Amino acid sequence: MKNWKKRSKAEIKEMVFSALDENVNFIESNVIGIPGSRLDPKVFYQDAPFLAEAPFLSALIRNPNHIGCHSLGDSEPFFAGTQKIELETLRMCAEDILRAEPNSTDGYVASGGTEANIQAAWIYRNYFMQEKGADTKEIALICSADNHYSAAKAANLLNIDFVRIAVDDNTRKVQSSDLKKKITQLKAGGVKHIIVFANMMTTMFGSVDHPDDYVPVLKEAGMSYFIHVDGAYGGFVYPFNGIEHGLDFSHPGINSITLDAHKMVQAPYGTGVFLIRKGYMHYVRSDEASYVKGLDATLIGSRSGANAVAIWMILSTYGKSGWTEKIQTLIARAKRIADVLTEKGIAFYREKGSNIVAIRSGQIPIEVIEGFHLVPDDHHNPRWNKIVVMEHVTDEKVDAFLTAINRQHYN
Ligand SMILES: Cc1ncc(COP(=O)(O)O)c(C=O)c1O
Repeated sequence: MKNWKKRSKAEIKEMVFSALDENVNFIESNVIGIPGSRLDPKVFYQDAPFLAEAPFLSALIRNPNHIGCHSLGDSEPFFAGTQKIELETLRMCAEDILRAEPNSTDGYVASGGTEANIQAAWIYRNYFMQEKGADTKEIALICSADNHYSAAKAANLLNIDFVRIAVDDNTRKVQSSDLKKKITQLKAGGVKHIIVFANMMTTMFGSVDHPDDYVPVLKEAGMSYFIHVDGAYGGFVYPFNGIEHGLDFSHPGINSITLDAHKMVQAPYGTGVFLIRKGYMHYVRSDEASYVKGLDATLIGSRSGANAVAIWMILSTYGKSGWTEKIQTLIARAKRIADVLTEKGIAFYREKGSNIVAIRSGQIPIEVIEGFHLVPDDHHNPRWNKIVVMEHVTDEKVDAFLTAINRQHYN
């Protein structure tokens, strides 16, 4: 354990309040040049007694602006206290969860998985354009058919080609024959540079990609490439299941990773995490942001420092072993569902070590799907319906679901 420590409530409260006190105080200081970003005091009471016991709400009310990427060094001095909390959060994620070497990554707390994924593609597109003299027509983003749609958004915004690779319907793994075919077609169309999005748990299936499925094919085709891992769903789950995987910074071919704290970590919405090896953020740094100290290398611009505080508080409350225990309990619960489905001959997909169970349509009655609000892969033409085992999916709810399929199973 390097940066990720379990801390008591009192310690967390003390650390957040002293970070907030290190930030600018708009009332007591003579700062008049920057927007006074604390929330409007007529609407959001600043002196409610309970705030003294509520570090996150206090951070929300004091509303620090974390504009910029603080791991690059120079940042706005007004919010230095909470920026340090963000930096510690990033190091917990990069080094304690995703096995990066100390101080080897940059990053920031993005608004979510979508932004973090777009940030990655933006950096690599600019790298290819600036370092290889590439035209946008020579760059493509590829990912599995099960990839989140934010990859398509990124390609569309960046004006680069977007290609999905077919997956096997049962294993959800990328089909190497389709990969080879699509790479050959892209090459014939003049594409020379590839951005790969690999999944550490897809949205619908929880399936996991292996970067080494892509690398030999890209090398053989003579493509230059970067691999970005989308761990928006799985980044706070998969690394804790005890399975050895090559989907983090311990793999030399992986350059950047998205995490999302507003999914499994149950942080407020607006808390994605973008992490990348050092030496790449400057490909999107804008000299135009000249009024921002340290300039800006993020997609979002102004962003709430309270989000970083929230992730730090949650991770610090559990500590690494507490978090591991929590996740392993959820995974075991998902496995319990999977074991019963197997026993009953109900067709489903579950990646080993994941907390997502996707059941094929037609396998359990529609009343059960609707009654338990399983989520379809496609609302118009559902082929799969998924269960995501998080804390609200208690053993009691799992029992009720298993009883319902017992009663109504009509195979
Ligand atoms: C794998 C994956 N990537 C990216 C995203 C997008 O995340 P957000 O909704 O936080 O932008 C999601 C959202 O569900 C996801 O599951």
